[in-house]
Amino acid sequence: MKGLLLAGGQGTRLRPLTYTGNKHMLPVANKPIIHYGLEQLKNAGITEIGVILGPMKEGIEETIGDGSRFGVRVKYIDQPEPKGIAHAIGIAEDFIGCDPFVVYLGDNLLKNGIKPFVEEFEKVTWDELLLLSRIDDITKRMRFGVAHLKNGEVIRVIEKPEKPEEIASDLVMVGIYMFRSRIFEAIKELKPSWRNELEITDAIQKLIDWGYKVVPRVTKGWWKDTGKPENLLEANQLVLSDLKPDVRGVIEDEVTIRGNVSIDKGTIIRKGSSIRGPVIIGENCDIGPNVYIGPYTSIGDNSVISKGEIEQSIVIGDTVIECEKRIVDSIIGRYTKIISNNNNLPKGTKFLVGDSCFLSI
Ligand code: TTP
Repeated sequence: MKGLLLAGGQGTRLRPLTYTGNKHMLPVANKPIIHYGLEQLKNAGITEIGVILGPMKEGIEETIGDGSRFGVRVKYIDQPEPKGIAHAIGIAEDFIGCDPFVVYLGDNLLKNGIKPFVEEFEKVTWDELLLLSRIDDITKRMRFGVAHLKNGEVIRVIEKPEKPEEIASDLVMVGIYMFRSRIFEAIKELKPSWRNELEITDAIQKLIDWGYKVVPRVTKGWWKDTGKPENLLEANQLVLSDLKPDVRGVIEDEVTIRGNVSIDKGTIIRKGSSIRGPVIIGENCDIGPNVYIGPYTSIGDNSVISKGEIEQSIVIGDTVIECEKRIVDSIIGRYTKIISNNNNLPKGTKFLVGDSCFLSI
């Protein structure tokens, strides 16, 4: 089987972070999101992978290269305009040829991976395996593609449904699909939707309407689509929950470390600081003295935090924080400085700051 990893699109919901870079390069637990999908494909035994690149390519080719570092072979496929997920699949037809394949949306994270589903799909003749996740909350279901089942097959898929009967099913589509080359026939028949995209839900519905067999499988572990800032923070929290402790940096005296903490080489944690895991800190960071880093925080390489408290946040890297407030639930872009100006405003200041910003608060 081949793999198709999507890293195109605009990433508008993650602006301003995506003004200066590809959203799939944003880090979750200090690792670009795109690496997670690539590793899941590799773990499932898929080594021939096409990567879709959109208008914002920055960093993707540098981080993945020819794939050899990950034990796979990568071919890049350009999608200059983000005309939809089905369009991205359609332009990969030459690369896929007649092989069955997995489409993996590069901004999706899946705890349990896809190995058993890939192995099953390799043995059967169904036309599609549709991966689903169960969502109890009705209002949340409305944000996804909902799948309706009958007799063990998918009979209808509806993107962002609104009517009560349409959201009656608690199964939503995860951004991972297993197809045979028949999907290309369906994509060729599609017309652009109201948002001017070729929709994957429409292509799947066409397969169903033509009488092809679309079989559902439900993933049991967590699944996250990291398309929005709050989702990125949730994904960071979920991945850090499984963090293995690993300290390679220098820890000075009178530093308190609790829970699972990973500190990379070249980093120093200065006197009087307190780190309560799960927390990951990258290379060459300078933390403290007397700084607090709280649970579910990722600090990227070359960051300096010389004053303040931070928790439940992502600091992408090359950042300076010297601040008397507690930073919470924040994503802080590269080359950002946050400097305190000693006033007494309430704690709990919230940021969503793009790259190369300067804040004095
Ligand atoms: P979306 O999150 O639906 O779209 P987007 O990435 O453009 O973000 P936004 O809606 O905030 O503007 O994309 C889901 C995944 O599919 C993501 O990994 C990007 C990828 N994609 C493509 O590769 N090509 C496309 O044309 C589109 C729309 C998405």
